[in-house]
Amino acid sequence: MNNCIVGLQWGDEGKGKIVDILAEKADIVVRYSGGANAGHTVVIGDTKFALHLLPSGAVRPETVCVIANGVVVDPDCLTGEIDSLAQKGISLKGRLFISQNAHLVLDYHKAEDRLRENSLGENKIGTTIRGIGPCYADKVGRTFAARAADLADLDTLRQKLVKIVDYKNKIFAALYKAEPLDSGQIFEKCKFYAEKLVPFITDTTRLLHNAIEQRKSILFEGAQGTLLDLDHGTFPFVTSSNSSSLGMSAGAGVPAKNVDKFIGVAKAYTTRVGSGPFPTELDNEIGSYIRDRGNEYGTTTGRPRRCGWFDAVAVRYSVTIGGIDAIALMHLDTLSGIKQLKICKAYRINSEDTDFFASDIETLAKAEPVYQTVEGWDEDLSGMSSFDELPENAKRYVELVEQFTGAPATIIGVGPKRSQTIFRH
Ligand code: GDP
Ligand code: IMO
Ligand code: MG
Repeated sequence: MNNCIVGLQWGDEGKGKIVDILAEKADIVVRYSGGANAGHTVVIGDTKFALHLLPSGAVRPETVCVIANGVVVDPDCLTGEIDSLAQKGISLKGRLFISQNAHLVLDYHKAEDRLRENSLGENKIGTTIRGIGPCYADKVGRTFAARAADLADLDTLRQKLVKIVDYKNKIFAALYKAEPLDSGQIFEKCKFYAEKLVPFITDTTRLLHNAIEQRKSILFEGAQGTLLDLDHGTFPFVTSSNSSSLGMSAGAGVPAKNVDKFIGVAKAYTTRVGSGPFPTELDNEIGSYIRDRGNEYGTTTGRPRRCGWFDAVAVRYSVTIGGIDAIALMHLDTLSGIKQLKICKAYRINSEDTDFFASDIETLAKAEPVYQTVEGWDEDLSGMSSFDELPENAKRYVELVEQFTGAPATIIGVGPKRSQTIFRH
């Protein structure tokens, strides 16, 4: 059985937790897109892991971990993550495989991300400043790009870096009057990364197809969320990869027909970090209540997340374009104590109601949510382990989510721990 886990909102839906749980039954966990902009939290007992590049399966000592071609790899972050797990007694030796075709995020990408965002002022995208956009742009541009395989051929990499850094310095000086970067310094760091990472670099497409032939169980771990997808999200307030399930095939080199189930992860409300329209945003005390109870602060940047009501129009769109079979509905526990809850079931745009999401931001900015109001509940859900145990109003809330999104909620999250998860159907 091969599964793909993907975010259905604007990221941070709780993918790390679901991947960790489902990884118990998987042989291999694969990250296929994004980079260190992701922050996936896994909680095991009292220990909290925040993973940026390693697949969330990394915390299980037997699980094979693949960082596939679609990921942009920041070697500084990755070596740090490998070391930090080693300090906790978890070794990646012999079970981590990094695609030779994955592109490297180097210092000049992070500099470019920062310089550009700073120059945009109020119009900034609100990126994570992890160099993601600049690295994917270089990948598409081809001429000034470095890939993981280059770490195995240091002489060629040195020459490449001289050419790339010279080019970047000219642009940074002209546009931002920035101090030049030193290609020699970047190369010295790459020598260190090479020592640490070359043993892990391989042809992961071949590895995955061998695994498919051997009927191994593979879990594909999406990063970000469908509404941040470069093509299908709220452009330009998106990330720079196909972060919906549609990116899985190109990002891993595995066709969708090899995936048995696409599981979409959504919170029982909505959050967003960074700029961009958010029709159901609650810029009020209910939004603050959700932020406090749900601990809604970025795993990667620590920024407070914008919070709002569940947007079923947006999630139904993500379910539709992503071929989603089932939803994992997280953070139901966070909504306890709110008297009346609202679910957005349609958008009113120019006095007309529509239930199809508008990814075009000018239209989305005009969308007024049409809400279904639902009575809330006061009970603490965090100790409940079956659907039957949930208060009637919580059950009704879940059933409305299913009705409005068109997908069954087969997993329900009632807390950050593995045990705080309800399985249905
Ligand atoms: P990801 O990027 O999709 O993996 O999500 P993040 O890890 O960035 O953010 C999700 C946060 O919610 C983390 O702090 C998780 O530990 C936490 N979490 C996940 N599921 C639940 C849940 O059902 N209830 C509560 N209260 N917290 C959860
Ligand atoms: P996970 O995998 C939430 C957002 C940023 C910004 C936009 C572009 O943890 O769900 P980027 O650095 O990618 O160029 O930023 O995308 N963003 C995320 N938001 N969760 C993430 O990842 C995100 N990765 C990027 O905040 O709005
Ligand atoms: Mg996250």
